[in-house]
Parts: sequence; C-alpha cells; structure tokens
Amino acid sequence: MLEKVEFLMKQMIESLNDKHILELFHKIPKGKRLRAKLILKIAGLSDDAYKLAAIVELIHAASLLHDDVIDDALTRRGKDSINAVFGNKTSIMLGDILYSKGFTSLTTLAQNIAYKVSNAVALLSVGELLDVKLSEEFNTNEELYMDMIYKKTASLIEAASASAAMLAGKNVEIYELYGKNLGLAFQIIDDVLDITQESEKLGKPSMHDFKEGKTTLPYMYLYDRIDEYEKERLKSLFKKDLSKDDKIWIKNKMQETSSLDDSIKYAKKLGLEAMRAIRDEDSEGLKKIIKDMIERDF
Ligand code: IPE
Ligand code: IPE
Ligand code: MG
Ligand code: MG
Ligand code: MG
Repeated sequence: MLEKVEFLMKQMIESLNDKHILELFHKIPKGKRLRAKLILKIAGLSDDAYKLAAIVELIHAASLLHDDVIDDALTRRGKDSINAVFGNKTSIMLGDILYSKGFTSLTTLAQNIAYKVSNAVALLSVGELLDVKLSEEFNTNEELYMDMIYKKTASLIEAASASAAMLAGKNVEIYELYGKNLGLAFQIIDDVLDITQESEKLGKPSMHDFKEGKTTLPYMYLYDRIDEYEKERLKSLFKKDLSKDDKIWIKNKMQETSSLDDSIKYAKKLGLEAMRAIRDEDSEGLKKIIKDMIERDF
C-alpha cells in the first residue's frame, strides 16, 4: 500500500530528469507516513487517493527540509539531516523542489482539492514564521501558541483529511474538523516527546525546543506553576545550551507540576474532539489513527 506512495513520490522527482536531485532525494529517509495513511484510510485505495497521499508526503518532507534549517536541527528520521550533510542552501532548494513538484502534480487533481492543499501550505509557512517570531521572546501566551501550531502543523493534516473526503465524496466538514483536532493533538504530543524522549528514539534532537526559543505547552504550564525564584531560573535557561543538571531540573519540575501530564491530557481532549467529529462515520481505522498519533513514543 505504502510502496505505491513511495513509488509515486519518486516518480514526481524523476520527472525532473536531474540525476543530482534524484540522488539527494534518495538521501531523505522515510518517515512514519502518517499523512499518507490518513488519506488512504479516508479516501480508499483509488489512483487519485494514492496520488494525493504522495503529494502530501512530498509537501510534508519539503516542510521538514525547511524546518531543520529554521530549527538548526542536525538529525532527522534517525539520520544526519540534509542541512547537516549538504548545508542549508541545499536543504532549502531541495525543499522548494519537493514543494513545487507536489504542486505540479496537484494541478492534475480536482480544483477544490488543489485549493485546499495549496492553501494549507501557505498556512503552514505562516505558522513556521510565527514560530520563529514567537521564539524571539519567552512566550507565555497559550492562545498564540495554539494559533501557531494550528497553522504550522494542523492545517496540512486538516487539508489532507478534508481533501481525502472530497475524493471519496464524504462529508468534508466532518473530516476537516477531525483533521484539525488530530493535527493540534499531534503537535502537542510532538512538543511533549521533545522533552520526554531521547534523541535516538525520536530520530531527531531531543530537549531542543527550549534551546531554540520555543516555550511549548509543557513549558507554559510549568512557568505558570512555579514560584518567582524558579520562574527566574527557568528564564535564565531559555535559549541556552542546557547542562545535564538543567535538563533534569526542568524534567523533574515538569513532573512535579504535572505540566507534561496535563499537556498530554489536553492532547487527549483534542483527540476526543476528533473522535466526536467522526462519531457517525463508522470507521474504526480513523479512531485507531487518533489513538496511534496520541499514544506514539516517537
Ligand atoms: C514531524 O512530523 C513534524 C511535525 C509536524 C511535528 P512527523 O512526526 O509526522 O514526521 P515523520 O514524517 O514521521 O518523520
Ligand atoms: C514542525 O514543528 C512543523 C512543520 C514541519 C511545519 P517542529 O519543528 O516541532 O517539528 P520537528 O520536531 O522538528 O519534527
Ligand atoms: Mg523542528
Ligand atoms: Mg520547527
Ligand atoms: Mg518538534
């Protein structure tokens, strides 16, 4: 099933007839392919569904090529990132190529689908830029954080879900709501895993968000729940290289204050919202996707 998606992704890049680009493309390791699975689950195994899945995975891969430059991340999907090996310029332009080939293929699908997905990519980019902007200072505004993660992450998952529903002639609003809540939960879990998991397990740097200026949900909860003295200590570590002891202090404080648990609870609440959206759709597979996305450990 997923082999067909991989094949179509490769085909899109092969159509450039550029050996160097194809070689670079093959250096991008495969991810979990959650977005492809989501699309195929909703739309079924038609040719257009496979094509849409390949396009969305290509777009997602492009966003990660840019994201690793933005976040100074030297590992991705368990390997050295493209920017780490070939430099930022290559990572950015390879990202542009993947985006553009995705868009080229998108023009062969129905216009409402092309609009939905391309508009989500604009939102994703707005979200990534918002993330950069929010990282300039110690952000404690939860509303700004939620708006930012909606744009950078949930928008593409929402569009993937909605456009798959369009392909299958299903109720688009239901699937849009499902995808949006799933996407929000997904990013919150990603932000929790940055703190709770080791880099080896994640396949990307762990405890890296705070160093990059990102006060994700667990950090906002923590800040809210500690005394003035500890607030100062936390702020003094913001954007710094954390020592082993600093990391332990942060993690312990997060445990003590239930900041991680409450972040997971919030993600689960969003998962339930996603579940509620599809309650009449009779799809065990989609419910399982919510569970898998929330209970994952990488
Ligand atoms: C990583 O997405 C970026 C986020 C939106 C959090 P995934 O966790 O789906 O990455 P891959 O594709 O499996 O590597
Ligand atoms: C990235 O969020 C979301 C997009 C790629 C748009 P993160 O920066 O948290 O993703 P990871 O942790 O590097 O995968
Ligand atoms: Mg990142
Ligand atoms: Mg990022
Ligand atoms: Mg992350």
